[in-house]
Amino acid sequence: MKSILLLTAATAALAQQQTANCSLPTTYRWTSTGPLAQPKSGWVSLKDFTTVPYEDGHLVYATNHDTGSTWGSMNFGVIKDWNDLGKAPQNKMNYATVAPSLFYFAPKKTWVLAYQWGPTAFSYRTSNDPTNANGWGNVQTLFTGSITGSSTGVIDQALIGDGKNMYLFFCGDNGKIYRASMPYDRFPGSFGSNYQTIMSDTTNNLFEAVQVYKVRGQDYYLMIVEAIGSQGRYFRSFTAKTLDGQWTLNAGREPAFAGKANTGVTWTNDISHGEIIRVTADETMLIDACKMQLLYQGRSPQSGGDYGRLPYRPGLLTLQR
Ligand SMILES: *[C@@H]1O[C@H](CO)[C@@H](O)[C@H](O)[C@H]1NC(C)=O
Repeated sequence: MKSILLLTAATAALAQQQTANCSLPTTYRWTSTGPLAQPKSGWVSLKDFTTVPYEDGHLVYATNHDTGSTWGSMNFGVIKDWNDLGKAPQNKMNYATVAPSLFYFAPKKTWVLAYQWGPTAFSYRTSNDPTNANGWGNVQTLFTGSITGSSTGVIDQALIGDGKNMYLFFCGDNGKIYRASMPYDRFPGSFGSNYQTIMSDTTNNLFEAVQVYKVRGQDYYLMIVEAIGSQGRYFRSFTAKTLDGQWTLNAGREPAFAGKANTGVTWTNDISHGEIIRVTADETMLIDACKMQLLYQGRSPQSGGDYGRLPYRPGLLTLQR
């Protein structure tokens, strides 16, 4: 009896050790890989990465651009290790899900892929097999609102749930962050056209590519937003106690959360649109601050010209603690 109790205590201690939780650091320092993959023949860029843990590995979706003028989207075959991304098949989708957000909506046991430039402001599709790039259902309406004072209109959605409500955060390349919400029981579905403008700053300080996460074991959420800096694109970060609450600057001054200056990266000046690697694939968007990694898009500092053909590639940052 005694030995069983001891064993139980030891197992519990081990489980706790395995789920150690960290708060966010006061200053961020990262190391970076080089480009992890090159676009397959016919494509010039891979960008706007979204990724979930899948079985024992990673599933990644992205935007791509061809050698002409066409945007598209794709997924990679599931990889076990980030160093295998360059060898993974690149699967073309038959419809463009640009700037995708991939997650599993646990209450309804369905995979959701949300994106921009569909028939409405934001769109989504659902699937039971996210590894199949062309296994998604018909396009559905996610959001129908419009914004003023933006040359792009609404872009770069981020979805997250707190167990009761689903939240839609988005950008407009205009120094603003917007938010809409709906109860879990109506999701997946349309947020309608209503929203609130929740943050306002210069265009450069709040540009695009917003992402929102729950930090595991902490009582706060982390938001990252891509900014335009003197050395290139970089991420600023904010925290909030609740998803409908006020966001407080976390790391705001260049290099802030992640940029050229605090990553030692040399192959790109831009740390741009991507995703923090999540702990689970579900709608809670859970991240582990003890082992933080960011899959981002970068490009050769020598590149220029047509925006669609800028040679974006995936790279991976690892937080140094
Ligand atoms: C880490 O956080 C998770 C989720 O809140 C919790 O279940 C776990 O007990 C925490 N681990 C430790 C060591 O406190």
